[in-house]
Amino acid sequence: MLDQLIIGFDRALRTVFAQAQTVRPVPGASLPEAALSTEERRHAAALMRINHVGEVCAQALYQGQAMISRDTSLRAALSEAAQQEEEHLAWTERRIAELGGRKSLLNPLWYMGALGMGIVAGKMGDAWNLGFLAETERQVEAHLNSHLTKLPAADNKSWQIVEQMKQDEIAHADTAVRLGAKEIPLPVKLGMKAAAKVMTGTAYYV
Ligand SMILES: [Fe+2]
Ligand SMILES: [Fe+2]
Repeated sequence: MLDQLIIGFDRALRTVFAQAQTVRPVPGASLPEAALSTEERRHAAALMRINHVGEVCAQALYQGQAMISRDTSLRAALSEAAQQEEEHLAWTERRIAELGGRKSLLNPLWYMGALGMGIVAGKMGDAWNLGFLAETERQVEAHLNSHLTKLPAADNKSWQIVEQMKQDEIAHADTAVRLGAKEIPLPVKLGMKAAAKVMTGTAYYV
């Protein structure tokens, strides 16, 4: 148990403070930087900051899931998705820097909040835990879809990242369903949406 806690704490620190790694190339990396106005650049950086916060939360959710679940085959089945979340973290972090923005100052807080939710879901058993993961991925997919229309039209580099992330999140939801996710009740879904709204609304600015 103590080992688990130490590993968990180490992961948390790395998620929030270290530079994430990517195996796949960053989507859109070969595209030229678009000529954006100062306002467009600021707006794109703020949207990518929100997406980065989302990925910090994804790290916490998957880490919480891995800490709690006793089923090693389940953990192995989810490890590919967790690995891709780390790539998303790397891509968004890099894009924020390219746009001259900064990451959310509240990342430790977002991480702790998501970890807490992940642990609560984990305690309810694998089927509910997977249900929570699947619903999270679906809500993230819808959110990323909205960002595809909100990003400055010329910002192809950010667009490519968000589009690839969306494709990955769809696959993650499918994986959770395939592994036996239960459909979580509507009030919980609405609660999650409300919490996500607070997070995205805040992360645009802080
Ligand atoms: Fe992601
Ligand atoms: Fe995902």
